[in-house]
Amino acid sequence: MVARAERQPRETESDRPIATKRILIADDDAAIRGTLVELLQGEGYDTLEAKSGSEVLRIVPVDEPDLLLIDLRMPDQDGIQILKRLSAQDIGVGNVILMTAYGTSSTTIEAMHLGAYDYITKPFDVDRVLFTIRRYFERQQLAQELVRSKQENKTLSERIVGNTPQMQDVYKMIGKVAASDANVLIIGETGAGKESVAEMLHEYSSYSKGPLVKVNLTALPATLMESELFGHEKGSFTGADRQRIGRFEMAHKGTIFLDEIGDMALTLQAKLLRVLQEREFERVGSSQSIKVDVRVVAATNKDLRAEVETGRFREDLYHRLAVITIHVPPLRERKDDIPLLVEHFLQKHRFSDASAPARISEEALQRLLTYDWPGNVRELEHTVERAVVLAQGGVITADHLAMDVDREIAIIDLNQQLTDGKTLDDVLAATELRYIQRALLRSDGNRHAAAKLLGTDIATLEKKLAEHGLDGRV
Ligand SMILES: Nc1ncnc2c1ncn2[C@@H]1O[C@H](COP(=O)(O)OP(=O)(O)OP(=O)(O)O)[C@@H](O)[C@H]1O
Ligand SMILES: [Mg+2]
Repeated sequence: MVARAERQPRETESDRPIATKRILIADDDAAIRGTLVELLQGEGYDTLEAKSGSEVLRIVPVDEPDLLLIDLRMPDQDGIQILKRLSAQDIGVGNVILMTAYGTSSTTIEAMHLGAYDYITKPFDVDRVLFTIRRYFERQQLAQELVRSKQENKTLSERIVGNTPQMQDVYKMIGKVAASDANVLIIGETGAGKESVAEMLHEYSSYSKGPLVKVNLTALPATLMESELFGHEKGSFTGADRQRIGRFEMAHKGTIFLDEIGDMALTLQAKLLRVLQEREFERVGSSQSIKVDVRVVAATNKDLRAEVETGRFREDLYHRLAVITIHVPPLRERKDDIPLLVEHFLQKHRFSDASAPARISEEALQRLLTYDWPGNVRELEHTVERAVVLAQGGVITADHLAMDVDREIAIIDLNQQLTDGKTLDDVLAATELRYIQRALLRSDGNRHAAAKLLGTDIATLEKKLAEHGLDGRV
């Protein structure tokens, strides 16, 4: 048998329509196999059957099913043993979905750590089964697309990920304006990706051989900002003990990125307007004009038009800057990008340099898909990054997601808990879990530090982590 490092579908296989994907159903219970065969064939999948672990091991190398549904408990070998045997033969198990009656038991967790894709619990919810399977194929396709787009255009896909029509509009705008030298205004909520768009714009522009100089206009008071932007002559003000080159000069033949332009002081706005009109300025304390050739890209999360109405932003400057406007849509309006972004961030934020990217359970992904992301892509990135730490590089479950931990603690609705029949122990356990997660986050996943924060010892903390099913290590 030819050993394969990873179970990558062959070219022809990946091009096969979903309808002909082949699924192996392994269960010693003939009634369950029958039900699943009927269900899956009804959906247009091809099916194979195995009634024991040894049959699975025989069939898989020969028939190479696209997906495996394996009962965790079969008389001759359990699911864990099967996973281990397959791995020992260099057959990837990333296409295995386990069927278990026990939910997140330690065996299921172990199976996930061995690399299984997901698990479904018995008795089956038919919709759930089909959903999980469909999702698997969708995500496999996404991963392939990501690989392909990486191969085709490495830099582009590393900066910006997303395939929704909303993001395609952004790409189109970038493409359209990249070759011109028109000023560009990028608007969008915090964390939506304005700076990333500016970087991409620079990369694709005729100024890409020159520098990309970034200035955050909220960072300094107006007087210092003026010399930061335009430079100053020695002795032009107290403390100016030598001549200084400003950002505009540094950006000559390149792009200057004026971030948070909505916060620019009015006095500076006048000076900026002149640069935009005449492409020249003077250093502070000098009368000599300096000519620059720069592409100006500005960004803001403010409604600049409203700022114009209230007199905080010059109207003439606004019109100059907003020759071309690129709107970066908030993440909640393009949630279909979330799976792709998650893949991207899992690649980007490894648990350690040597580890493979962490993986995420279906349940956790669902949580990410239903959340509203007020902090947009940055919040998603942080959430994934922290989950990788909490999961210690293993499989990310919903318990590792902490985007709204604080809120959950704050609004734990006690009346609702009573209505739901939750016991005192239930509520205490839920609160305990959140509190432990918080401590782990704050200590970057270091358990000793977290134990200290919690006023307990490492043994107690590890015991509690195990109780909450968070004892996974890689
Ligand atoms: N489409 C994307 N694909 C991959 N990463 C992205 C994408 N959009 C944003 N990011 C990442 O999210 C983070 C925030 O993005 P960025 O700094 O561009 O946002 P911003 O709109 O400038 O935020 P702010 O308003 O807070 O300045 C960065 O780490 C960036 O790399
Ligand atoms: Mg920014």
